[in-house]
Amino acid sequence: LELSSKEQDYDKGDFKHFMAKEIEEQPTTLKNCINEYVDKINNDINIYNFPWNIKEISSVTLIGCGTAYHSCLMAKYWFEENTTLEVTIDIASEFRYRKNRFKDDNLYIFVSQSGETADTYAALDLCNKNNMKTCSVVNVIESSIARDSNFVLPIHCGQEIGVASTKAFMGQMLVLYILVLKLGILRKDLDKDLYLNKIKDLKLLPKLVEQTLLTESKIQTVSSSFTDAKGSMFLGRGFSYPIALEGALKLKELAYVHAEGYPAGEMKHGPLALIEDGMPVVVLAPRDNYYKKTISNMQEVIARGAKVLLITNKSKDEVFSENIWETVLVESANDDLLPFLLTVPLQKLAYYSALKKGYDIDKPRNLAKSVTVE
Ligand code: G6P
Repeated sequence: LELSSKEQDYDKGDFKHFMAKEIEEQPTTLKNCINEYVDKINNDINIYNFPWNIKEISSVTLIGCGTAYHSCLMAKYWFEENTTLEVTIDIASEFRYRKNRFKDDNLYIFVSQSGETADTYAALDLCNKNNMKTCSVVNVIESSIARDSNFVLPIHCGQEIGVASTKAFMGQMLVLYILVLKLGILRKDLDKDLYLNKIKDLKLLPKLVEQTLLTESKIQTVSSSFTDAKGSMFLGRGFSYPIALEGALKLKELAYVHAEGYPAGEMKHGPLALIEDGMPVVVLAPRDNYYKKTISNMQEVIARGAKVLLITNKSKDEVFSENIWETVLVESANDDLLPFLLTVPLQKLAYYSALKKGYDIDKPRNLAKSVTVE
């Protein structure tokens, strides 16, 4: 994949790579996006011209590929937490060939940075042909997916050039979360005070991401253990599980290291057999409802020789576990927002691992920014 002259013109500034720049831009892109959707004065979410009556929707299906699919999975957890909508998610290349049960009261949401991914477009086209309600969450608003969906929610993060998605992933999660809150209040699933508090918290997110970006040096040091390893695992439960998948994907894409994202509770059903002495394992265990369970899964892998990089959020209580190799602390936030903060060190881990190996960070081998063929 060659950078077009337009992309080359796009300034890297003082950064060595577009990816590094795009990671650092996240506080700004998140802020810009929040400003587009959240009314400054009354703290309400504005989603203009939503084409359907809220009563016409009783379930949601989210569809995407790659990183965009991980934001769909993330949204499923938020939908279930904040609304009573039924939620399914699908990988576009699977959805397009299955015998789907199309339902008139279902909203189909297509998530795509480029808006041109062939499989995602084909899934949208299939829904359109069946007269379904279609909505897209895109970065490129002039794209085919945006043009052919009934309703578009842009992520407002500016051009993303690094093939491995960073700021667009954050933008997709943000817009999906905003949609979740809006549907939650409109359907009266969310209590008004809780809704307003969640919006207040959301406005603090850019600052929290900015502070979390400072976890730099430790990540830089630990990245060598990942580059030298035969393989690695990323574990998380609940809200952290989609982020574990995304962290593993980033490492595969950029550092060409075998990395498995797994629900921490599934380890005992097979993957525990992969753990051997010195294997690096990232455990995402923020202090949410899953914390104790995840810490106990962490102890199981430590006992089998894993080198655990624990990523949790700052708290006055210490983590009571022995033999943790390294700990990285992200800022604290309400449970809904922790996934954004956990994402940051994982982006950096992949970045520094690839940098150490001298790989082409903005254009990893065999991959393309936008996959417009099947
Ligand atoms: C490619 C990119 C990924 C991206 C996926 C979906 O595989 O390398 O970073 O997540 O396509 O792209 P989309 O533009 O639909 O979000």
